[in-house]
Amino acid sequence: MGVIGIDLGGTKIAAGVFSGGELRSRITVPTPEAGGQAVIEAMAKAAQTAMQEAGESAKAIGLGTPGPLDYTQGVIKFAPNIAGFTNFPIRDLLEKATGLKVYLENDANAAALAEHVLGAAKEASSSLFVTVSTGVGGGFVLDNRVLHGAHGQGAEVGHITVLPGGPLCGCGLDGCLEALATGPAMERMALAVYKTEVTTRELFARFEAKDPRAARIVLQAAHYAGIGLASLVKAFDPEVIVLGGGVALNAGPAYLEEVQRSYQRYMEGWIAPPIYMAKLGSEAGLLGAALTAGLEVGEV
Ligand code: BGC
Ligand code: NA
Ligand code: ZN
Repeated sequence: MGVIGIDLGGTKIAAGVFSGGELRSRITVPTPEAGGQAVIEAMAKAAQTAMQEAGESAKAIGLGTPGPLDYTQGVIKFAPNIAGFTNFPIRDLLEKATGLKVYLENDANAAALAEHVLGAAKEASSSLFVTVSTGVGGGFVLDNRVLHGAHGQGAEVGHITVLPGGPLCGCGLDGCLEALATGPAMERMALAVYKTEVTTRELFARFEAKDPRAARIVLQAAHYAGIGLASLVKAFDPEVIVLGGGVALNAGPAYLEEVQRSYQRYMEGWIAPPIYMAKLGSEAGLLGAALTAGLEVGEV
C-alpha cells in the first residue's frame, strides 16, 4: 500500500500514488473553474484514477495547496491566485469524498520537503526553497521538518515587501515580491511597455533575442528575486537555497546571473548560502504532497 499525493494548482491538479520510494502513477486534470465542491470532486476522481493506474491502493492522501493554511482545522485561509478558496475547509471535504485521511500542506512547503529529502538539498540539513512561477512560494525545512509557523503562514515568502507602494498583489497588499517577480507580474509590465499582450514565454524569447525592453522587464524581475532571497537568508539562514518554479527554471542564464548579482549585492558582508537550481522540476509539489502523508503514516 502506498500514499497518494495531490498537488492542487490554479490551472491543474496533479495526482499520483507513491510507494516504495517512487511515484507509481501520475495523472493531471484541469482544475475546475467553478471552484469549491467541483474541485473536491475532481481531486477525488484523480485520486481514484491514480490508484487504478498504479494498480495499488493507498493509506492516506497528502494534499499540497496554495495559500496560508489553518493546519489544525484543515482550512485554506485564502489563495492569492485561485478564486473561491477563502476559509475553505478542504481537508474534511476531501476526506468525506474519498474516505481516506488527508494531510494538508502548503504547495511550496511540499515542494521544499521534496527537494530537501530527494532533490537539490539532499545533502543539506536545512534548506530554503523558493518557487517563482504564477506565484512566489517558499518553504523552510530543517532536518526533514517543514516550518509551518504559529499561524500557518510561515515561509509565505511571496508576500514579503520588496517595494513599498509598488504594484498590487493578489493578497491585497502593495509591493510584494510576488507582484514584481512572477510571470503575471512580468506580463503586466509587458502590457504597459508594448501596449499589447505578451506572454511570459514570448517575453523570454524576446529577451534571448536581445530586445532591450524585454531585457528590462525580465532583469527587473530577477533583480527583485535576488533582493528577496537576500532578505530571506537573514530571516532563515539556511544551509542552501533551492530555486525552482517555471519562471526561474525557464528564463535562462542571463536571468539567473541577475538574480545572483542582486543577491550577492544584498549579501555583501554576510555569508551567502549557495543557490541551487531545483532538481525535481514540476514534480516537486506532487512528490512533496505524497511525502507529507508518507511521513505521517510511515510509508516513506
Ligand atoms: C501563495 C503561497 C503559494 C505560492 C505558490 C502564493 O501566492 O501565497 O501559499 O505557495 O503562491 O503557489
Ligand atoms: Na510556503
Ligand atoms: Zn502579497
